[in-house]
Amino acid sequence: MSRAFAITAEAIAVETERVGGDLEKFDVGNVIRLDELEPAEVGPNDVKLKILAISAEHNVDHAALADTVNIAELRGGKIFPGNSALGEVVAVGNRVTRFVPGDIVVTHCNGEPDGFGYPLRIWAYDQPDSIGWYGEEAVVGDWQIIPAPLDCGLNLWEIAALPLRAPTAYHLWRRALGIYRLKVPREKQATLNVLGFGGGVSELFLMLAKSEGHRAFFCSGSADRRSHLEGMGIEGIDQKQFNRFAERDDVKAFSKHVKKATGGTGAHIVCDMLRGPVFPAGVAVASRMGVNVSAGWQLDKKIGYDSASLSVRQITLDHTHFETIEGCHAATELYGRVFKPTIHEEIYAFEDLPRAMAEMHANIQTGIPIVRVAKDLPDSVKSLVP
Ligand SMILES: NC(=O)c1ccc[n+]([C@@H]2O[C@H](COP(=O)([O-])OP(=O)(O)OC[C@H]3O[C@@H](n4cnc5c(N)ncnc54)[C@H](OP(=O)(O)O)[C@@H]3O)[C@@H](O)[C@H]2O)c1
Repeated sequence: MSRAFAITAEAIAVETERVGGDLEKFDVGNVIRLDELEPAEVGPNDVKLKILAISAEHNVDHAALADTVNIAELRGGKIFPGNSALGEVVAVGNRVTRFVPGDIVVTHCNGEPDGFGYPLRIWAYDQPDSIGWYGEEAVVGDWQIIPAPLDCGLNLWEIAALPLRAPTAYHLWRRALGIYRLKVPREKQATLNVLGFGGGVSELFLMLAKSEGHRAFFCSGSADRRSHLEGMGIEGIDQKQFNRFAERDDVKAFSKHVKKATGGTGAHIVCDMLRGPVFPAGVAVASRMGVNVSAGWQLDKKIGYDSASLSVRQITLDHTHFETIEGCHAATELYGRVFKPTIHEEIYAFEDLPRAMAEMHANIQTGIPIVRVAKDLPDSVKSLVP
């Protein structure tokens, strides 16, 4: 048996009862509990991993809160979450040719590609029978792992921050830019104003935009995260200065600020990820021909907009989910070269994973939260521990 974290429908019900249904008081740390499981047999095309480190991800928060759907209940009462991990290959099936024991790899969470390569389902979320990686060991198909670029210049925790967020950002960026370029070709306008709201995915999205020569703006309530991005030439905007868009006047003031900063133009591309009050703010600052792209719904899963206004301004809303497997490989090439993630100052111990999730939920971390799962690390990565 090996240890792994689980979310049960029962634990969700107990916590919901405790807080009287008030999600503001809900403690996700009470719901994500240490459990045990028997790792699956290693089939001919499978790889067994010793998990070294994971990043805390918001879909686990959504699973524990059951605010989008009660995925634990839908999957029979229990899930083993976690779809971003860095691991060491410890055994391979007899048909595996791409990996050998000792290889260090990252996972991707495209659980079941459709005919175009996009995920129909996400691993360890809605993919039936999928076991997540917030555990000590895992058995996965060899198609589900990618060699970790250990020489990319990032340290081990920075590499562990990227397996889910980097492909998401990569996909959002190539979609948003492709849509914008369909409307406005490069010969008419080379440099774009690109704006993202707080969060690890948006940060990586803006790093891509900046690396390709565009002006990038990061609108976040976190001074630490803004400062990290400002060090990379990405201009910070304090979201709290605009009261997190609680009122229409806050949105108006934000729009005025962005218009002034962009010489009256606005943002050609906006990465939202949060929806809720952030959505109208993102639409308000969009330039003509603008593209608003999102793969998240952290604050609300519904949006409303004035179709006439968006038509007249030629604004496109695009909804994405997650990358193709090829896209995940391409995104991994950019670790360190483009993606230099912010990392929360504490590296959590495995047993503290519920606290890491609760602190992520409370939005009090200074960067992407990383949990060290393995106490003993292989020699190949020891020099990457800061
Ligand atoms: N489709 C996919 O494949 C995919 C992949 C990754 C993430 N997602 C989803 O995208 C969303 C963001 O994920 P992430 O990984 O980028 O998040 P993250 O790194 O955990 O950051 C979350 C951000 O939310 C912001 N926030 C928290 N409360 C807020 C509020 N009341 N108003 C405005 N901003 C608030 C914070 O920004 P400040 O800096 O402003 O405080 C924080 O940095 C989540 O819902 C996640 O599930 C989807």
